[in-house]
Parts: sequence; structure tokens; C-alpha cells
Amino acid sequence: MGMEQTLIILKPDAVQRGLMGKILSRFEEKGLKVVGAKFMQISQELAATHYCDHKERPFYAGLVNFMTSSPVLVMALEGVGAIAICRSMMGATFGSQADAGTIRGDFGVSNSFNLVHGSDSTEAATKELGLFFTEGEIISWNRASEGWVYDLSGDEPE
Ligand code: RTP
Ligand code: MG
Repeated sequence: MGMEQTLIILKPDAVQRGLMGKILSRFEEKGLKVVGAKFMQISQELAATHYCDHKERPFYAGLVNFMTSSPVLVMALEGVGAIAICRSMMGATFGSQADAGTIRGDFGVSNSFNLVHGSDSTEAATKELGLFFTEGEIISWNRASEGWVYDLSGDEPE
């Protein structure tokens, strides 16, 4: 598992509840690197495309309505194994079932409003990053602390 990028969305409830900073801090403190960020209002069309796999599900209309109801903070995060790391930090889909220590487990109780989205596979990450960011909006930059976040003495960051 090498260096990966993943799409994270701090959903409308996270923004409205003033939790953007706390949630972003968790990802930063873990060692994930922000390579893209955008505060935006998701259109109906973009929400529909992003969640097209759920089109036939009973919760789909409510999900699109929720995601377009208020602004979101969309981020591209980078790290070794970033996709799985972010998913485990998010916790189970519903706040009521998510383990304590996870974002959803610590900040939410709802089975609809669950604070955060994260890509669930490399294929999904590629697709979703392309939906929300143009190429120039993902920025490759040198982090001063990189050599303390990872052991860089070998061929690959460890
Ligand atoms: P996400 O895609 O947002 O990261 O969440 P997830 O992978 O944990 O969950 P997923 O199954 O992909 O569902 C997408 C979003 O739909 C809402 N949902 N509602 N009422 C329901 O049964 C239900 N199931 C899913 C949640 O907002 C979930 O994040
Ligand atoms: Mg999902």
C-alpha cells in the first residue's frame, strides 16, 4: 500500500455545528497531509453524481437533500494508506453505532447526519477527487515535518 489521496467531505452538519476545526485537526494530527481544500455548496447534480451508487436506495433523496442543504468543506488528504486510515478514523456509518474514538462515534448520534464522507476504495477516491477538484487545485507541497511523520530513510516512507 503506497501513497494515496482520498476525498474527505465535512458534511453540512459538521459545518453548521462548528466542528470543522476539530475534525480537520484529527486528520492533521494523525499525520495526513492536506493537498486540497474547498469550502463550497454542493449542487443537486454533483450530489447525485457523487452518490450515484445509492440511487435506488430508500435514503437517496434525503441524502442528496442533506448534502446540498448547506455548505461543506471538501478536502483531498494524502498519506500512505490514507483511504483506509481515514475510513477507520471516521467510524461506522451511523453515529449511534460508531465506536468511541472515531469522528462519528465522538461527535454524532444521528443515523442520517454523520458529519464526514471519505472515499472507500482507490477507484472511488480517483473518481471523487476528479468530481470535486480540478488538476491545479490539488497541490503537491513539501511539508517541513515530513521526516518526523514518516521514516524517510528507505526507498518508501515507512
Ligand atoms: P459516506 O459514503 O458518506 O462516506 O458514508 P458511508 O460510506 O459510511 O455510508 P454509505 O453506505 O456509502 O452511505 C452514504 C451515506 O448515506 C447515508 N445513509 N443513510 N438511512 C440510511 O439507512 C442510510 N444509509 C446511509 C449516510 O449519510 C451515509 O454516509
Ligand atoms: Mg460511502
